[in-house]
Amino acid sequence: MLIDVFPTAAGAEPELLAGKTVLIIDVLRATSTITTALANEAAGVLPVLTIAEAKEAAATFAPGTFLLGGERKALKIPGFDLDNSPRQYSKGIVAGKTIIITTTNGTVAIKQALPAAALLIASFLNARAAAREAWKIGTDIYLLCAGTRNRFSLDDAACAGMLVYYLQELEPEARLGDLAFTLRHLYLAYQKDLPHLISHASHYQRLVALGLEADIAYCLQQNIYDIVPRWDKRQNLIVL
Ligand code: MLT
Repeated sequence: MLIDVFPTAAGAEPELLAGKTVLIIDVLRATSTITTALANEAAGVLPVLTIAEAKEAAATFAPGTFLLGGERKALKIPGFDLDNSPRQYSKGIVAGKTIIITTTNGTVAIKQALPAAALLIASFLNARAAAREAWKIGTDIYLLCAGTRNRFSLDDAACAGMLVYYLQELEPEARLGDLAFTLRHLYLAYQKDLPHLISHASHYQRLVALGLEADIAYCLQQNIYDIVPRWDKRQNLIVL
């Protein structure tokens, strides 16, 4: 089994992902938000690339059955129901609803990976469960970091390192690609103080500047959910 990491969505050619298991990582905040929505009993999450596409998709749902969520520049999109703060996706708000979501990097990475044989959503919130689920499938595994505007993002990289660490515990003979090897060591060096490492991430600092420290603290919690959202080709939705 090969385990490797793509540092950004742009670097992951869809044809390379075909037939593989892909774990999408956008710690701050898209994959943390999607995981939270499904943990809180959302009916499903529909990722789309543009605001126009989100509104077109919304027109196909009956009123009261969906919510529009996501961000641009980390802020709520005018006319949408929710921004990209996972703390907004509480049971009282999302249970039973389909979430149509568009974000700057996270939903781009998800769309890029649709040719994968299995597409799973990972974050610190569900890292152990996501590693276990990916490993059970038994194919090569690519960890696809959303990054920030096509650039390496330390928060996603740290989570990828943690996932590689968990995966290698499950499959000691796994072959690690260069970046997987490197990020596993990064994780091991900082595992006792991940918030300190991640505080150097530019997107972390952007969220702090917007007063979103509570979102960061939420997203950096480890293994609080034992669920793994996955793309369901038949339903065209991310579900549990
Ligand atoms: C994204 O997908 O770009 C992010 O999740 C941005 C954010 O809301 O922090």
